[in-house]
Amino acid sequence: MTTRAVVTGVGHYLPARVVENSEFEASLDTSDAWIRTRSGIERRHFAASDETTSDLATRAAQAALADAGITPGDIDAIVLATSTADLTFPSAATMVQHALGMTHGFAFDVQAVCAGFIYALTNANALIVSGQAQRVLVIGAETFSRIMDWQDRTTCVLFGDGAGALVLEARAGTGDTGDRGILSADLNSDGRYRDILYVDGGVSTQTTGFLRMQGKEVFRHAVEKLAATAETAMARIGMTPDQIDWIVPHQANIRIIQGTAKKLGLPMSRVVVTVQDHGNTSAASIPLALSVGKARGQIREGDVIVTEAIGGGLAWGAVVLRW
Ligand code: UT7
Repeated sequence: MTTRAVVTGVGHYLPARVVENSEFEASLDTSDAWIRTRSGIERRHFAASDETTSDLATRAAQAALADAGITPGDIDAIVLATSTADLTFPSAATMVQHALGMTHGFAFDVQAVCAGFIYALTNANALIVSGQAQRVLVIGAETFSRIMDWQDRTTCVLFGDGAGALVLEARAGTGDTGDRGILSADLNSDGRYRDILYVDGGVSTQTTGFLRMQGKEVFRHAVEKLAATAETAMARIGMTPDQIDWIVPHQANIRIIQGTAKKLGLPMSRVVVTVQDHGNTSAASIPLALSVGKARGQIREGDVIVTEAIGGGLAWGAVVLRW
């Protein structure tokens, strides 16, 4: 018998304020047409000034728990992916734990920027497979609007705020790819590329900083590395792209999403796309897309999903799972 970490609930939360591309035209030398054509983004949500990452994460977690039909008392652990935690410490995960009324179990943050949810999912899977936890809340939540340089048109039009969450539960499997649950993963990072996507501040430098990105360079790495990590994760379990029902990619740029699908030989009709409505929400983008994909009726029980992401570090990876 093999223990599998199976998705039994999913949910998301988006802040109320929706910002259309055209809003940026008043303050920046940009246009709705440029943003749509180059990135596929049409709008994004921004958190209210009194709304923090752990607030968004708590709302998404509550939605995922309701979807799973369980309560916070049933959860053993919370793994939260974010690069925009409320405070330097404690972790946003412990804030969510408290907000959910949990005084048992354990909670921690994972920081791998846009690849954060892939890392969090892989960590949560390891907790379940090793018997450390039976039920884990895995959350991706960000308030990237707080690290935007509003004068920099090359970055500030691309990002948004939001949160998504999954409930993962231990279930008995047979050990083959017919099992529901996480089937395979591939994680990578290479700090040589830290200068092409970073925040130019932090606690140890006593500044807050803004996101800085050499977009073209990141784009080049993304197209090259995302299909490769997805193929590696599939190859580990002897799967090929024709066995995949859905690609659920990190939602950074529609052209990267299209390029990756093409490399994998899959049509866009098998890709869950939310970038037009959310922008790039970093670690929140994959769980948001999973939640929206399920709500749209695209993702159904038994579907095989490949999810992949790349971001600052560079850090990148992929997870193969059967929903
Ligand atoms: O989630 C983490 C991973 N991040 C990503 O995956 C992002 C990867 N990169 C990208 O998505 C794309 O590179 C961008 C959307 C950031 C940029 O698209 P691009 O096709 O690579 O454009 P570019 O950077 O080559 O810029 C083309 C032109 C430049 O003008 P010149 O030098 O040709 O005169 C830019 O200054 O577009 C200009 N530009 C803009 N124009 C209007 C850059 N930003 C804007 C803007 N509005 N907002």
